[in-house]
Amino acid sequence: MAEAETKEKSASKDAKEDEAQNTIWSRREFFSLAGWAAFLGSLGLSSLYFARLLFPRVLFEPSPIFKAGNPSDYTVGEVSTKFVKDQRVWIVRDLEGIYVIFALCTHLGCTPRWLKTESKYKCPCHGSGFTKQGINFEGPAPRALERLKVALAPDGQIIVDKSKKFLFEKDEWGKPGAKLFV
Ligand code: FES
Repeated sequence: MAEAETKEKSASKDAKEDEAQNTIWSRREFFSLAGWAAFLGSLGLSSLYFARLLFPRVLFEPSPIFKAGNPSDYTVGEVSTKFVKDQRVWIVRDLEGIYVIFALCTHLGCTPRWLKTESKYKCPCHGSGFTKQGINFEGPAPRALERLKVALAPDGQIIVDKSKKFLFEKDEWGKPGAKLFV
């Protein structure tokens, strides 16, 4: 009888030890899996970051140079607004030739409107006004509108380069490129 009891106790002890051992192993497995998951996760993130470095975000800006048709498309004495929407410029033809005005208010950068009946550019933001030639005469704009480089392409079309500006304040409107004499 005593022997049977001893065997039973021993079996129960073994079972408890097995259970405890199983618990330890399942914890180990859990931590091991969690460790792998963390490692693979960070590896994945690093790979993504590296891949992004290989393909940097590049902003492709449109070319500052565009063709604006033939000089004969422009009437002497008129301000053409046909490139305001796409290129933000007015093309003006006077008795001497053609010049291009950048449609950007020199106060805070709004786009003024050409008011034909009043013969002026008027900024809708704070009321600055500019003469047909681009000189500021009312409102807070501190200086004249800028002119842009204009030339004749080999095919006879007007070519405008918005990257080259001519400032009235620096006496640049008389410089080569500020006006196309046609
Ligand atoms: Fe044109 Fe202020 S932005 S007047």
